[in-house]
Amino acid sequence: MAYEPVLTKFVGQPDSFTLAAYLRDQQGYEGLKKALALQPSDVIEQVKASGLRGRGGAGFPTGMKWQFVQKDTPKAKYICCNADESEPGTFKDHVLMERNPHLLIEGCAIACYAIGAKTAYIYIRGEFYHVQEHLEAAIAEAYAGGFLGKNIFGTGFDCDVYVHRGAGAYEAGEETALIESLEGKRAQPRLKPPFPAVAGLYQSPTAVNNVETLCNVPLIIKNGPEWFAAMGPEKNGGPKLYCISGHVKRPGVYEASMHTTLRELIFGEQFAQGMANGRSFKAVIPGGSSVPVLLEHQLDAPASFDGVQKAGSLLGSAGLIVLDDTTCMVWLAMNLLHFYRHESCGKCTPCREGGDWLYKLLQRVERGEGQPKDIDLLFGVASNIAGKTLCAFGDAAATPVLTTLKVFREEYEAHVREGRCTLPAEWRGRHAAHAHAH
Ligand SMILES: Cc1cc2nc3c(=O)[nH]c(=O)nc-3n(C[C@H](O)[C@H](O)[C@H](O)COP(=O)(O)O)c2cc1C
Repeated sequence: MAYEPVLTKFVGQPDSFTLAAYLRDQQGYEGLKKALALQPSDVIEQVKASGLRGRGGAGFPTGMKWQFVQKDTPKAKYICCNADESEPGTFKDHVLMERNPHLLIEGCAIACYAIGAKTAYIYIRGEFYHVQEHLEAAIAEAYAGGFLGKNIFGTGFDCDVYVHRGAGAYEAGEETALIESLEGKRAQPRLKPPFPAVAGLYQSPTAVNNVETLCNVPLIIKNGPEWFAAMGPEKNGGPKLYCISGHVKRPGVYEASMHTTLRELIFGEQFAQGMANGRSFKAVIPGGSSVPVLLEHQLDAPASFDGVQKAGSLLGSAGLIVLDDTTCMVWLAMNLLHFYRHESCGKCTPCREGGDWLYKLLQRVERGEGQPKDIDLLFGVASNIAGKTLCAFGDAAATPVLTTLKVFREEYEAHVREGRCTLPAEWRGRHAAHAHAH
């Protein structure tokens, strides 16, 4: 049966971001009304029963996260919506915020009710200026319509939603760094535990949830947890947004169920339609730039949290970066390390120093000036970053090196042996242009 989009069905309509369109087309705020008639603990139970897993990267069960939020405390509780969307290859959340902002606002309000909060902060990436404008206009409409503010639907529930714009840092998407930044400090991660559920924003119990995660919540309450769970494979229910970029014919954001395979997403007619310029497929990074590469024979895995993990990678942020046969994998790792080295917040030494070291080594190998021992050194340095930092940034920065060394080691060896990239000269120009831009 053809998949019917639910998150993005109306995003192509010119007025999709208005309250009028949301009420008209999507039974807007019916989920909130329904939720407010339930006990907060029942809302959490419904989200748990749906099997909703966080769409921000780790796939952690949302209902469980909300249950962990400490309730028996006089402190205020908070929802922080993670709208930092800075993972390379990831560009789905801004579509939801720009074209369907009321769905997110409704999700924030239901999440607040469920955990006993009255305030949600949407922490939005610094570069999303125009998205913020849409979101703030929608929030103003929601207040005017009585869907935010005091005594919503006459139930006595109060809820405020604020947008906070970051200054544009990848690390600000890590949940404790996000909280630090919201508090007005540098976006650097905290030592955990305590986790945000116990001591988050202003040391109060906090749940940090991704935009797409929160957008699913009204749908679960409105249509029921069974409806949601039945949309995908077991423990991988609900609609999913995929960002497909790279050397494909039709890059973009696509909504599908998690039954869909990676191959369908990359080659399917209704998705990215295969490789551009008549080239052939070389590899895909399936979950944003921080996860291991997969090869052609692994593409029949369902693009679900469990399916991609079983294939040897991670679904992460569901950003599929598709690479054709002209891609030099040493160049790829160097390009990504240029990003990670720049974005390291500098708090942990292995990440701050190691990222820079990796980048310099990769530059040397890519230029054809590498020595045989550099390959083992790259492995050693990357292995000493992964798992040795306060947050998962370290693992993310080490992964492009570790995965390309594991799967494409011969390309590194050829660079060292031949003193140059061994791909045909006419392909190399494409990458050199990027390398010089750095
Ligand atoms: C370096 C780094 C950057 C991150 N960036 C984002 C981001 O931009 N957006 C996001 O939702 N999660 C990001 N995360 C994951 C968050 O820490 C957190 O797990 C997520 O917001 C939880 O939401 P979820 O449970 O709804 O997935 C990042 C994690 C790390 C380590």
